Amino acid sequence: MRDAYLYAAQRLTAVIMAPLVIGHLITIIVAVQGGLTAEEILARTQGSLFWGAFYGLFVIAVGVHAAIGLRNIFAEWLRFRGPVADWTVLAIGLLLIGLGVRAVGAVI
Ligand code: HEM
Repeated sequence: MRDAYLYAAQRLTAVIMAPLVIGHLITIIVAVQGGLTAEEILARTQGSLFWGAFYGLFVIAVGVHAAIGLRNIFAEWLRFRGPVADWTVLAIGLLLIGLGVRAVGAVI
């Protein structure tokens, strides 16, 4: 049952990330037109609810998606499964989200 939810969550986060990746690529292409400077990036992101939500959602989706994927890889490749494996991937996922949220917070 839990595996079914994790399977669904990994697909859902993949569906969330796909348009965000495209939006991110378009932003990169547009952003480099004006030269890639810290001032230019911060002028776009600072105080912006939109970019905060955009990158915040991205970071959460990556953390959830990568942790679930890593759980599968641990189980299939390393035969590392069970509660310790689950807590390990949970810690990795939370670490990814924590670092990502910190990075988003620095530019918003
Ligand atoms: C647009 C972005 C992404 C999309 C559309 C996507 C899509 C997917 C899909 C559909 C799967 C399931 C494959 C399967 O079970 O057959 C998957 C697995 C996985 N993804 Fe992603 N992914 C994306 C980004 C990422 C990122 C950024 C990471 C890591 C930081 C990541 C790590 C993984 C891992 C570790 C697996 C597990 C592979 C396995 O089960 O063998 N993915 N991804």
